Amino acid sequence: MCGIVGSIGLRRPREYVGNGLKMLDYRGYDSAGVAYFDNGIKIYKDVGSVEHLLGIVPKNIKTNIMIGHTRWATHGAPNKNNTHPHISFHKKICLVHNGVIENYKELKNFLLEKCYGFYGETDSEVVANLVDYYYLETKDVQKAIEKVISLLKGSYAICLFDSDSENDLYIFKKGSPLVVGLGKGFKMVASDASPMVEYTTDFIELSDLEYGIINKDKVTIYDKDGNEVAKETIHKDIELISHDLKGYPHYMLKEIEEIPQTVNRIIDNYFQNDEFQFDNDLLNDLNESDHIIFIGCGTSYHAGLVGGRYFEKYDKSASRFIASEWAFHPTFPGQKPFIILISQSGETADLIHCLKIIKEHNLKNLIITNTGGSTLDRNCDYSILLHSGIEVSVASTKAYVAQVALFAMLAAALQNDKQVVKDLKQSIDVINDIQGNFKPIIKSVAEEIKDKKNIFYLGRSFDYFLSLEASLKLKEISYIHSEAVPGGELKHGPIALIEDGLPVIVFITDPETAPSMRGNIEEVKSRGAKVYVIATEALAKEGDTIVVKNYAFYLSSVAISSIAFYLAYYVSLAKGLNVDKPRNLAKSVTVE
Ligand code: G6P
Repeated sequence: MCGIVGSIGLRRPREYVGNGLKMLDYRGYDSAGVAYFDNGIKIYKDVGSVEHLLGIVPKNIKTNIMIGHTRWATHGAPNKNNTHPHISFHKKICLVHNGVIENYKELKNFLLEKCYGFYGETDSEVVANLVDYYYLETKDVQKAIEKVISLLKGSYAICLFDSDSENDLYIFKKGSPLVVGLGKGFKMVASDASPMVEYTTDFIELSDLEYGIINKDKVTIYDKDGNEVAKETIHKDIELISHDLKGYPHYMLKEIEEIPQTVNRIIDNYFQNDEFQFDNDLLNDLNESDHIIFIGCGTSYHAGLVGGRYFEKYDKSASRFIASEWAFHPTFPGQKPFIILISQSGETADLIHCLKIIKEHNLKNLIITNTGGSTLDRNCDYSILLHSGIEVSVASTKAYVAQVALFAMLAAALQNDKQVVKDLKQSIDVINDIQGNFKPIIKSVAEEIKDKKNIFYLGRSFDYFLSLEASLKLKEISYIHSEAVPGGELKHGPIALIEDGLPVIVFITDPETAPSMRGNIEEVKSRGAKVYVIATEALAKEGDTIVVKNYAFYLSSVAISSIAFYLAYYVSLAKGLNVDKPRNLAKSVTVE
């Protein structure tokens, strides 16, 4: 899904670009490269990790300008030729690109007619050549970029330099994010602010169809027609991110074990001196709206399912949507809807697309994110940070719990219902109990299910939402097919799949639906399923696999999700898989 970094005028550009690419690692990649100016354009790139790349890039580079890129293959296989940076046919233009050019075939045909040759299959190489073509025609990079912007369809964030000058870096974008960092005597560029926070607290964000010319002392931004645009400098103190494993073998394990702290931090940040600490304007806007729309992807969507229920508990009607579905068929229930976007990374392209639509409709919006300074944090009307600390493992754990805990607090704040704080504190005890006492039993269940092809999770109401997340987590990192089914829906189809030895993991923590869930257990057991029950003390029966302390049922995703996370973790570990970086997935999906 590609990460971009670039700098001009920086004393140690290799260090910035190398570390920056590592920090953008969450975007997922299969190959990486850098380019710089030293008596012409120099490029080093290869398939594999940034560490591998840095092994082949010379150590003492003297250059004013450097760009770097991590590529997640979309057009063309992950091989060296398709890896960025790309250089144009006449060796005039060197660029890195994040996004997808929809009309690249048409543009490539145009260039082939003009006798351009191509070494790879990417849409990005086409853009390098298109700029090259118009540069040679106009002798002016700026004019060439304007022409190229008028021709490109799709999404792009592009950073380039030309072979005739080491004093200017050029950027342009549409759809994909690009941020400029401002330093004294140097400037930097990246897909998000994180690589730059060590160097500056001042940023400029490029808007769609704008382009910029950057030299070490100055950044000038233009609209697509070449009119200079006055940009606001955003001053943001963004937390420096530590990638320390703190002695844990995997980030996922570390992040699961940080869950109690994470929930505590939500309470501490948003409830002080016996009062909720949310922006009053936000609470007013939420109170005045007659319908709340929750939008997210993957795990964040699952948190939104729970969040919607919390708002309904406080008499707000709510609907929930998967971002990529809503973006193409947006609906606006109610007279005065308020939109809540949910994204751990704050960079997910599907959500950024939704925000564009939301703004076109002038609707009030809020982002719940773990990433201060991210695109959604910067661009939504309101932003509430999770303060969970960086989440490195692709499988989201602590951020999911933080999202749900935050929704519980925010919904309760609408009616000043302080009971939620007590309930959350009680949940923390339950989590600590699970983390302290249940890992061996979860590990043994993992051993039993690790070679299965299919697994079912069952639950009702909040336990169903938790089942969805538990199932996604297992799928993501163990590659076992799994399904989450609401207990009552079992007999409407899924029961056909129950067969001898099929593991069925059942959550029973809701007093109201516990008897029905027990009925479901009988249904699957009598068809040969191997059932594992997770129940609260109040609802437990002999033979249940894990019995946890009682807690307020609506907080299932906070109190007992650790069980599901550990299970996925131990299965992945037992199968010898890459727990933190599962195949085909990225921490944040930055293309649609
Ligand atoms: C990717 C990840 C998922 C994540 C989803 C949403 O698909 O693999 O684990 O839940 O993106 O990410 P976000 O950063 O928007 O919460």
